[in-house]
Amino acid sequence: MSADLEQIKDFLVTLAKEAGALIQAKTGRVSYDDKVNAVDLVTETDAAVEALVAAKLRAAYPEYAFMGEESYVPGETKLGDEPTFIVDPIDGTTNFIHSFPFSCISLGFAINKKPVVGVIYNPFLDWMYTGIKGKGAYLNGTQRLPLRQPVPGAPPLELANALVGIEWGTQRDGVNYKVKSETFSKLAAADKGFVQGFRSLGSAAMNLCAVAAGQLDAYWEGGCYAWDVCAGWVILEEAGGRMVGGRKGVWDPAMDCRMYLAVRGDAGQKPFIEAFWGQIEGELDY
Ligand code: IPD
Ligand code: CA
Repeated sequence: MSADLEQIKDFLVTLAKEAGALIQAKTGRVSYDDKVNAVDLVTETDAAVEALVAAKLRAAYPEYAFMGEESYVPGETKLGDEPTFIVDPIDGTTNFIHSFPFSCISLGFAINKKPVVGVIYNPFLDWMYTGIKGKGAYLNGTQRLPLRQPVPGAPPLELANALVGIEWGTQRDGVNYKVKSETFSKLAAADKGFVQGFRSLGSAAMNLCAVAAGQLDAYWEGGCYAWDVCAGWVILEEAGGRMVGGRKGVWDPAMDCRMYLAVRGDAGQKPFIEAFWGQIEGELDY
């Protein structure tokens, strides 16, 4: 039996609204714990939302596998080829703790490790992003992505006219911290990349939606997991954007490769990707 992607998307939208209400109800006075280090945070709400989502998905789709950030066991949980829901119950947990209104629930569905349905809901702004492989991507059901349309006669996408999403992530030492710091510096410098600016929305899913919408031109990060990118990936591609590796030369990245560069739809996309890779100082190693 092949999966009915439209029906799955509708189910995920309903589930995202229910979970979103739970997330919204809890913000404002949130206590937290840390995981790997003092900037890798988790709250009771992350676990409660994942439990709710996992139970509902298992009841409705017992034939499909499930992977979620909070139930992931390093070295044990493996992403397989079988149809799999890939879930981040709260992406942007640090934002959630600080009441910075850019956290969301990210619900993805993948087949053969390729994302085919994505639903991302920010309950604070009431933004519901959806995408289905081959059927386009939308904001709030009706606004087709990208939202930002090309201006006639505008130059193609290049570093010098780009607004770029970046994140420090949670690893603040070693080679990855060095590569990120030096690359950010190179991208910003007047005599090097000279990009127009950086933005950090604090959520991989929100960054990917912003690239899909055309509000960011690109987003580069190392250190994410499949649940951070699965849903956003299909939304991005259905908006004409492209996901490549966060390391030079990786044109066809695996879902769980942990290093990504997302670029919005534009005629200049391919040369932009090569120019961006040219600015990466050293090699990320996740
Ligand atoms: C994190 C956010 C953040 C990104 C990290 C993710 P979480 O997810 O998406 O923007 O920099 O790589 O781990 O912890 O908020 O679910
Ligand atoms: Ca999370």
